[in-house]
Amino acid sequence: MSKRLTLGIFGFGVVGQGLYDIIKTKDLNLSIKKFVIKDPTKERSLPASLFTTDASVILDDPEINTVVELINDADAAYDITVRALRSGKNVVSANKKMIATHLEELVKIQQEHGTSLLYEGAVCGSIPIIRNLEEYYDNELLHSVSGIFNGSSNYILSKIFNEKQSYEVALKKAQDLGFAETDPTLDVGGYDPKYKLAIVASHAYGLYINPDEILNLGIDKLGNSDIQFANEKNYKIKLIPLAKEVDSKHVVLYVLPKFIRKDNILSNVENEYNGVLVKAAFADEQFFYGKGAGGHPTGSAVLSDITALRYDYRYEYKKHLESQQVEYSTDYQLEVYFRYADEKTLEQIQFDSISERYYAENFKYVIAKINLQEIIKKRDLIHQDGNFLAEII
Ligand code: HSE
Repeated sequence: MSKRLTLGIFGFGVVGQGLYDIIKTKDLNLSIKKFVIKDPTKERSLPASLFTTDASVILDDPEINTVVELINDADAAYDITVRALRSGKNVVSANKKMIATHLEELVKIQQEHGTSLLYEGAVCGSIPIIRNLEEYYDNELLHSVSGIFNGSSNYILSKIFNEKQSYEVALKKAQDLGFAETDPTLDVGGYDPKYKLAIVASHAYGLYINPDEILNLGIDKLGNSDIQFANEKNYKIKLIPLAKEVDSKHVVLYVLPKFIRKDNILSNVENEYNGVLVKAAFADEQFFYGKGAGGHPTGSAVLSDITALRYDYRYEYKKHLESQQVEYSTDYQLEVYFRYADEKTLEQIQFDSISERYYAENFKYVIAKINLQEIIKKRDLIHQDGNFLAEII
């Protein structure tokens, strides 16, 4: 028998409304008792009696056994989640930053209080990757997990490469469609996919990594010459997070824009779609594809978590408990394209080798091998205006 759920929902934005639309289409043995919102003056499509601005109305209500947290503010989301889990309520959250930043502590709180925190909607929208990593790939040796984890930057790149739209116009559309974060730097700067990568690394490899330790460079410095370079060489540019086992004890994690060939499976992942590419020892290559942003796709993942709680589902974090744990490493050589404005910048970066060098007044680049540690060390220099770095795969 499934348990009857009484929900208290924090947030009625894009995902909250998407979730509500889906819930009302079915009889799922659950009811929504209250929404907590920030702005009481905003016009809502539901009766005013369903809304409050007071978090305690949900958190102190013993009848509410399930808290759904769908707000932007990661600090407020953390407080809500911790209070709810400690008071015996299960929580569903789609806040990738909050989960990636506090995961180790949140796992402990769940174990101490016998409560469950689920967050499928936080990673790649509608794609059920967390539960698959947790359950299905439990015994499988994972060589790597990579893909397209951010719908907004992928939407922008698709519009630039397929429709020759400008970066600014495409970004504005991604915002209007509700894909982008409130601060879109999180999307185009590669922070949002980095948080998702940290969560993926936890379920794939049993790692708790502070996202601040993971390198992310985004598409925010992409220029016309880089697009021209990609078109001439028959590449596409995609923003790709990677978790990869470099040997039996070490895993590297980073987010970089990448030049990929058009026969690469990720090349056909366009607009707000996401794709997750899993390479495993025995299953070999597998690919998950689906919408990564938007109210209904993300709402569908959130609903799947809610309904899993009717049967008391919880992540077991088994890979964290295994004795043969892997460690996070940054010692990894990659091949990059680096466009730079000032020759002095180039002199300050230690490349392992340079295979190609182009020098014109308005367009200078190198194709070179470089260690990830050097990119991390020189991140600010590399990320200055006038420069753009992308991996070539
Ligand atoms: N801003 C995110 C994206 C929303 O564009 O992918 C979904 O996490």
